[in-house]
Amino acid sequence: MKSILIIDDDALIRRTLSARLAKQGFDVRTAEDGESGLKAHAEGCPDLVLLDMRLPDIDGLDVLRRIRERGSRSAVVIMTAYDDMKTTVEAIKLGAFEYLVKPLDHVALDLTVSTAFQVKALEEKVSYLVEEKKKEYTIDAIVGRSAPMRAVFKLIGSVANTRANVLIQGESGTGKELVAKAIHYNSPTRDEPFIVINCSAIQDTLLESELFGHVKGAFTDAVCETKGKFEIAGKGTLFLDEIGDVSPNLQSKLLRVIETRDFMKVGGERVLKTEARIIAATNQSLRALIESGRFREDLFYRLQVVEINLPPLRERREDIPGLASYLLEKINRELRKNVSKVPPEVMKILIESPWKGNVRELENALTRAAILAKGDVVLKENLPLEPEEPKRFSPEMVSLEDVEKDYIQHVLSAVKGSKTRASQILKISRPTLDKKIKDFSLEI
Ligand SMILES: Nc1ncnc2c1ncn2[C@@H]1O[C@H](COP(=O)(O)OP(=O)(O)OP(=O)(O)O)[C@@H](O)[C@H]1O
Ligand SMILES: [Mg+2]
Repeated sequence: MKSILIIDDDALIRRTLSARLAKQGFDVRTAEDGESGLKAHAEGCPDLVLLDMRLPDIDGLDVLRRIRERGSRSAVVIMTAYDDMKTTVEAIKLGAFEYLVKPLDHVALDLTVSTAFQVKALEEKVSYLVEEKKKEYTIDAIVGRSAPMRAVFKLIGSVANTRANVLIQGESGTGKELVAKAIHYNSPTRDEPFIVINCSAIQDTLLESELFGHVKGAFTDAVCETKGKFEIAGKGTLFLDEIGDVSPNLQSKLLRVIETRDFMKVGGERVLKTEARIIAATNQSLRALIESGRFREDLFYRLQVVEINLPPLRERREDIPGLASYLLEKINRELRKNVSKVPPEVMKILIESPWKGNVRELENALTRAAILAKGDVVLKENLPLEPEEPKRFSPEMVSLEDVEKDYIQHVLSAVKGSKTRASQILKISRPTLDKKIKDFSLEI
């Protein structure tokens, strides 16, 4: 039941208000002065306080101040006289939700009380969601125990508390945005905005106005003035995704804003300042783009005060089991399913697959398997993939012995185990073939 505390020295008001509100189903308490009101507030933690501004012992404003100092979440509605606008303004500044003028209009009272509860419910929901969002981007939300990932965690930890610009490089789906968010949500400005802009998805002229905003009339469609991402980010983080795709013209504008912190809206004349921290990401090699003259070297060094390189998943396969169970948990929450078991042969496929799309591809594959699963097991047939070609055929891992073993096995299978045929094809003697079959433990 929602609770209301009425603090007023007028016995008639206390009586009529509490009767009216109790009839509406609220749990109502009353107090006749400031001190007893504060005591009742501490004991009952009411959802709403109706507070008279003129009390016999202490000023209503002081009562409000002390309620706020307690860090209480009670909504406070003040009751005041017409000639007391100064106090009212002061009370609203101190965080009072609304004011009611005496003599009280009961319809206005009912409306204010119900609005206060609605706003309070919304505020609680928003602050819950904000906290949940923050949890998603704690370091725990990034899975990985492999040596390269441990190095990444260390970098996130040491860079989060600084305002240094960060450049995150890695193939598609390796977690660049996740790392950018982890840096932001672990930084002292975590309550400020985290603004993402994908530089490759927007055409050049539009990108400029997205970044810096534009004034009214700057171009044909500029019907009203807009804020750019640099302004919206405030003291928070601006995440420039796919920075490698920015045109030379915009590269020089970005360089200027990073160097001077000054910028102007498109078509504008006023110089604005940005305090945002910049994190840029790319799945291209900026060094190669510099070599070919497509990316400014000076901008690169400005962006890459700290560089984080995210390794592709195929270079940290030991992270796959941990990632699979983390991602399955996440997928189950989203899909309201309970697909949690990964049989060893399925895990083997997951570990050995090429994962060209990295963690995102793994997540998509598991999502599909979870949707198709009838029970709680990830089934092999629901995975849209084949294990990678045996690694021994990739140039960096070739060993002559492995190739020989594989090829002899291949020939033996092709001739259905006939050693005579196999030795003819391989042009080796029977005893040599026998020895190789034994040494390599081949199957016939
Ligand atoms: N180490 C990790 N632990 C947990 N989840 C991860 C990890 N890396 C990536 N993911 C998940 O994989 C998905 C892709 O990650 P993200 O969007 O950060 O990748 P990206 O590098 O920005 O990709 P792209 O280059 O395609 O934009 C997201 O759902 C993210 O949560
Ligand atoms: Mg991304």
